Amino acid sequence: TKPASIRNFCIIAHIDHGKSTLADRMLQLTGAVEERVMRAQYLDRMDIERERGITIKSQAVRMPWEVDGETYALNMIDTPGHVDFTYEVSRSLAACEGAILLVDAAQGIEAQTLANLYLAMENDLEIIPVLNKIDLPAADPEKYAAEIAGLIGGSADDVLRVSGKTGEGVDALLDRVVGTIPAPVGDEDAPARAMIFDSVYDAYRGVVTFVRMIDGKLEPREKIQMMSTGSTHELLEIGVSSPEPVPSKGLGTGEVGYLITGVKDVRQSKVGDTVTNARTPAEQALTGYEEPKPMVFSGLYPIDGGDYPVLREALDKLKLSDAALVYEPETSVALGFGFRCGFLGLLHLEIISERLRREFNLDLIATAPSVIYQVQREDGELVRVTNPSEFPDGRIEKIIEPVVRSTILAPKDYVGAIMELCQSRRGTLDGMDYLSEDRVELRYRLPLGEIVFDFFDHLKSRTQGYASLDYEVDGEQEADLVKVDILLQGEQVDAFSAIVHRDKAYAYGVLMSGKLKELIPRQQFEVPIQAAIGARIIARENIRAIRKDVLSKCYGGDISRKRKLLEKQKEGKKRMKMVGRVEVPQEAFIAVLSTG
Ligand code: GTP
Repeated sequence: TKPASIRNFCIIAHIDHGKSTLADRMLQLTGAVEERVMRAQYLDRMDIERERGITIKSQAVRMPWEVDGETYALNMIDTPGHVDFTYEVSRSLAACEGAILLVDAAQGIEAQTLANLYLAMENDLEIIPVLNKIDLPAADPEKYAAEIAGLIGGSADDVLRVSGKTGEGVDALLDRVVGTIPAPVGDEDAPARAMIFDSVYDAYRGVVTFVRMIDGKLEPREKIQMMSTGSTHELLEIGVSSPEPVPSKGLGTGEVGYLITGVKDVRQSKVGDTVTNARTPAEQALTGYEEPKPMVFSGLYPIDGGDYPVLREALDKLKLSDAALVYEPETSVALGFGFRCGFLGLLHLEIISERLRREFNLDLIATAPSVIYQVQREDGELVRVTNPSEFPDGRIEKIIEPVVRSTILAPKDYVGAIMELCQSRRGTLDGMDYLSEDRVELRYRLPLGEIVFDFFDHLKSRTQGYASLDYEVDGEQEADLVKVDILLQGEQVDAFSAIVHRDKAYAYGVLMSGKLKELIPRQQFEVPIQAAIGARIIARENIRAIRKDVLSKCYGGDISRKRKLLEKQKEGKKRMKMVGRVEVPQEAFIAVLSTG
C-alpha cells in the first residue's frame, strides 16, 4: 500500500469506556472480520484473551475502508492504558499520526486518559474527540463535549458522538479518520528503519514483534539488525494482522505489521528499538529508545517455603514476555527464601503478583513496596537502597528520593479531602483547574515513596471512588528519612523495617508494635516489642509471659485427650517462625505486611 492511502491511529480511552467494543464494531463495519465469524469466533477469542490478561491482545489491526471510491488501509494500534507503562504508551503513540480520544458520555474524561491525551498532543498527533455510549440514558454528551473542547480546543460541535454498542456514528468516525489524520511520510528509498512499538511472547511462535515502518522496506528471509545492540536475525515471517496474522511479501514505508525472527525472549526485541536491514543498515536509529527502569521494589516470598523453585521458574517464564521485570534472590530471617523484584510501578507489581497467583498457583507474601533511595554517608560514599536492609549504618550526610508529578481528577466537592491527603503525604500543589463546573484537575508533586504505600486506597475512600489518579516520575529531592527497625526481644525482624520520613517514624513504630502485640501469642517469657531508629528506641510494647502448660488442663488420665493436645501444639509449631527465642506465627507476618 502506498503511504498516501495509509492511516495509522490509536484509541486513547479509560478502562471500561468502551475501546474493545468500538474496535470490534470497526472490524465488523470495515469487513475485516466477517459478520458470521465475528460472533462465532472473534468475540469468543477476545473473551479468552480478556480472561488471560493484558499481554495477548491484538497489538495492531489493519482494516480496509472506502471513501469516495478509494480504498484506504486503516491501522489501529493498541496502546497500554496505564501510566506505569508511559514509555510503552509513548512508543505506540509515536507509531501513529492520529488518535481517537474516546470518552464515556456518562462519565467524562479520567486522569489516565488525560495524561495520555497530553502525551499524544506533545507527539503532534491529530486528535479526533469522540463521546461513546450515547445510547445510555445517563449520557450527557453536551456537558462532556464542552469539557473536551475546553481541553483540546475547537468547538463542542466537533466532538463526534457514537455508540460502540449500537454502531451509531461509527461509519462517520471512520470517514473522519481518513479525512483528518495525515498520511505517513517517510523516505521509501532509504535503508529500512522500523520502530518496535510492542513485542509479545507467544508460546507457539516465540516472540512476535510489532513494528511501524518509518523509512524503506523489509522483506521476508532477509537479515535484519536491532540497532540498540547490533544483533542480527533472519526474518522468518513478516505480515499484517487483519486481525488474524497474514504473512505478506514485505512491509513498506508507513505500514504497520509484525515480524517473527525466532528469538525466544522479548528483551532481544525491545520496545522502542529500531530495526534495519543488516546488509545496508541505516546510519541513525530512530530517537527514543530507553531501557525500562524499575521504580518500585518489593520482596516476594512463597508462603510455603517448598514453593521457592516454582516461584523461580514462574519468574523466569514471565520475564520472557515482560522486559521490564527484574528480580534477584533474597533471603529474609523472617520470611525465608524469596526474590527482590523491581517493577515499573504499582500496577505492574499488582499485575505480576496476580499472574503468579493465578497462573502458577502460588501463595505469596509481598513486603511493603519501596522505591530507590540514594543515601550519601558521611564519608562521601553513595549507596543505592531499594530495600530497608541495605540502608547504611552510621552517620548519613543526605538522602535523595524520587518524586512524581501527579494528576488527580475529581468532583469539586472532594477537593478539600484530596488536598488534606496530599499534604499529609508531603505533597506540594502545582496547580488546579476546573475542567467543567463541577470537575477539578489537581496537580501535585509527591514523593514516590509516599504513593507506593496505600495512597490510592485512601484517595478512593476519601472520594467515594470518584477520584482518578495518574503520575509520572519527575526528578528527585533531598528528604529527611530514617530507617525504623522493629525488634522482638532485642532481635531485629528484617521484614518489618521501613524507610520513612522522620516526622512519621514515631507513628510507624507505634502502629507496628501495636499490631504485633495483637498478633503474637503470649510465650513462656516476657517479650518486649520495640521500634528503633539506629540504637534509639522510639516505641515499645510488651507481651506478658504465660506459664501455660497445655497438659495442666488434663487432670486425670484421659490419655487420648492429652495426645490430641500435644499433637495440636506440634502442628501449631510448624507454622511458627523463630525470631531469636520468640515464636511468631506465619499469619502475623502476613497480617502485618498485607495492611502496610
Ligand atoms: P477494557 O478492555 O477493560 O479496557 O475496557 P474497554 O474500554 O475496552 O471497554 P469495553 O469495550 O469492554 O466496554 C466496557 C463496558 O461498556 C462493557 O460492559 C460494554 O458492553 C459497555 N459498552 C461499550 N460500548 C458501549 C456503548 O456504546 N453503549 C453502551 N450502553 N454500553 C457500552
